[in-house]
Amino acid sequence: MTVRDILLLGDPELRRVAAPADPDALARGEYQELVDDLVHTMRHANGAGLAATQIGVHVRIVALEVDDNPRYPYKPKIPLTIAVNPVLEPIGDETFANYEGCLSVPGLRGMVARRRHLRVRWLDPHGQSHEQVVHGLTAGTWQHECDHLDGKLFVDRVTDTSTFTTWDNFKRHHEAAFVERVKALHPEE
Ligand code: NI
Repeated sequence: MTVRDILLLGDPELRRVAAPADPDALARGEYQELVDDLVHTMRHANGAGLAATQIGVHVRIVALEVDDNPRYPYKPKIPLTIAVNPVLEPIGDETFANYEGCLSVPGLRGMVARRRHLRVRWLDPHGQSHEQVVHGLTAGTWQHECDHLDGKLFVDRVTDTSTFTTWDNFKRHHEAAFVERVKALHPEE
């Protein structure tokens, strides 16, 4: 396993649309090294998720994991999930304002509208299919990671640029009110 370099904002590679993973190649274990590197790199950087795009591999695979994350101490836990060819289906049309950050956009956070409820379908690295309904911040994390596979970054979705903040100023001025507000989104978790 290798800690790979994470591509940063402005790198054209982050703007490429990733191709679907080939289920036959998946069954042959051809993505295993990529998956291992993705997990290792995500954990090394304390990410809540990492898309293959962010390490310069243009195949539709993302890793997600939230477990006592120092970057996002308020996020509900997500067990380690490797999602191959993930598909997001919004449930209803409700959105919420999510304060996001990204390992590819160091130092910056901003407010993004995300779907509150989603059905998520994906294959695991063994080719098994999974389906889950997710809400609130967890739904936000899925949308953020899947955006990477389409060459999109959270900064593209920030409509009110006055919400941009450094991480220190997020903690100082915005975190308490944000956490209070999103807690109310999670009665179901
Ligand atoms: Ni990101």
